[in-house]
Amino acid sequence: MSRPFPLPDGRVALAPSVLSADFACLKSSLAPVKGLSDWMHFDVMDGHFVPNISFGPGLLPAVARAGGLPVDSHLMVEDPGMFIAPFAKAGSSLVTIHAEARGAAACLRKIRALGLKAGMSLRPGTPLSRLLPHLPSLDLVLIMTVEPGFGGQAFMAGMLPKVSAARKAIAASGRPVWLQVDGGINADTAPAAVAAGADSLVIGSALFSSRSPAGLLKRLRKL
Ligand code: DX5
Ligand code: ZN
Repeated sequence: MSRPFPLPDGRVALAPSVLSADFACLKSSLAPVKGLSDWMHFDVMDGHFVPNISFGPGLLPAVARAGGLPVDSHLMVEDPGMFIAPFAKAGSSLVTIHAEARGAAACLRKIRALGLKAGMSLRPGTPLSRLLPHLPSLDLVLIMTVEPGFGGQAFMAGMLPKVSAARKAIAASGRPVWLQVDGGINADTAPAAVAAGADSLVIGSALFSSRSPAGLLKRLRKL
């Protein structure tokens, strides 16, 4: 069973990216961040949609247990349709697919039919217009601020206008939809993302390489 996923409530939700956690000691790696985070971000890569392979639904229950928080699965895979049921079964609360992936509309229907929250993500080069027709069935919009595939890349400030435009579209929709940014978020880049309208920050390498992960999250919390 998945944990209930929160609704947007005006504050900035923090989602540590498990990709940068220490897998040899997941529990102690997540311990300092769990009380200060809203959910865990689980990056799934298939070696086709992105030039990297990460992990699949088999690891998710361990992450959910270690984190004690809801899990948002970011599927960077070519054919997400075949993975939705396994991720639901593994305990994901929200599944994000890419607008560029195969059968995106049918995948969103499948996610909702399984009772999960649905997200859609855009690569940096994909315009917001590609996502807008799907907005009525989304709980989360994810704007990538790096090319998907690897943690630890530099934030693309050129994506900020897309974040602002997404915020306007969400406001116009009148629906409670999270606006998440993912890639290169740290104490220096987060303020601009939030100023542009983001209300959910994925944070990977900056968090897990920090000498004080809790201190960094507390700083971000104040945004
Ligand atoms: C990149 C992933 C990100 C990544 C973020 O493809 O989607 O979630 O883990 O890591 P940082 O915060 O290091 O950019
Ligand atoms: Zn991600």
